[in-house]
Amino acid sequence: MKIIAFAGSTSSTSINRQLVSYAASLFNESESEVLDLNDYEVAIYSQDKEQQEGIPNSIVSLAAKTDAADLILISLAEHNGSYSAAFKNTYDWLSRIPNRKVFGETPVFLMATSPGGRGGAGVLEAAQGRIPRDGSELVGVFSLPSFGANFLEGKIANEEKDTELKQLVQKIKG
Ligand SMILES: Cc1cc2nc3c(=O)[nH]c(=O)nc-3n(C[C@H](O)[C@H](O)[C@H](O)COP(=O)(O)O)c2cc1C
Repeated sequence: MKIIAFAGSTSSTSINRQLVSYAASLFNESESEVLDLNDYEVAIYSQDKEQQEGIPNSIVSLAAKTDAADLILISLAEHNGSYSAAFKNTYDWLSRIPNRKVFGETPVFLMATSPGGRGGAGVLEAAQGRIPRDGSELVGVFSLPSFGANFLEGKIANEEKDTELKQLVQKIKG
């Protein structure tokens, strides 16, 4: 199984990148690549820009990566109850490529973590409502609250949450 994984964050210390990297490591027999949204930074979407300059090359290459994958792991940062601007901008550009879905119909395993107790519930709700309407099956949803207490030394330290994640991974691996 070919997996791409990324965080919906451009922070160099992203806790969502740490979580999604750990989740990717659990698919041990698969080929997984952790992407960085910073490598796909583009102008803020505007219809004028799209008409004048077209879809940026980096967005086209990100789309090609999602199309070639069997599974996409995404862990979303929550900013003011919803997507980070960086993730939403990337999503908006991806949605403008003609004749394909945002993630090219590749199934998505959706995650979020935050320092607080809600574990990104707001952004997960937004994405859970949207991603299936944009063509990708959601094969799992996982939230890790209180990242600082529950994630230590590259792993989930909370046994119950770790088991929950591992069971979801097992189910997806089939
Ligand atoms: C502009 C901004 C808004 C934020 N809003 C929320 C929020 O609504 N809910 C929340 O749980 N955390 C919020 N946070 C804290 C983030 O969850 C925290 O910065 C987290 O580290 C973001 O994930 P990342 O490290 O993967 O970028 C916010 C942070 C920023 C910078």
